[in-house]
Amino acid sequence: MLSVKENMIVDFSPELLSKFGEIVSRYPEGRQKSALLPVLHEVQAVFGWLSVDAMDKVAAYLGIQSIEVYEVATFYTMFFLQPQGKYMLEVCRTGPCCLVGAEKIMDHLENRLGVKEGEVSADGLFSWRGVECLAACGFGPVLQIGPSYTFYEKLTTESLDELIGNLRNEAQTKD
Ligand code: FES
Repeated sequence: MLSVKENMIVDFSPELLSKFGEIVSRYPEGRQKSALLPVLHEVQAVFGWLSVDAMDKVAAYLGIQSIEVYEVATFYTMFFLQPQGKYMLEVCRTGPCCLVGAEKIMDHLENRLGVKEGEVSADGLFSWRGVECLAACGFGPVLQIGPSYTFYEKLTTESLDELIGNLRNEAQTKD
């Protein structure tokens, strides 16, 4: 279901449109809908999330109905339909990772960042959420960071603090 609290009007840059064109060209004529997933990933990489306006413009670009884009964007949990922090910390909350401390890691994240799951920290840098198995079950607790999807394994509260500090420094350096 598409539940929208916020919208954001977007303009696709010539560079982004050129990437769309390259993606669409990988598919046979008339099958441009096949490009939907990679195109949505490109949009999310630029804007951080998929607003209704962005999805409508993707639909117009691909010559499909908006509902076809909503269906895909709401099905895959990798797509965000609300604004997120610059860094989305995703902690595996499936059984094997929980056995080695994933819940403690999520509690620690909530306390350190001062936000509940799905919220954005006051500085706009962080969001976090629990996700299903990240396919590194022997190395838990596991965390991945979007949008680059870098993985961190065998997390402890100490290594998590270090990671958060490094991300803060990285954000300051880039700003
Ligand atoms: Fe955590 Fe598979 S259970 S990565």
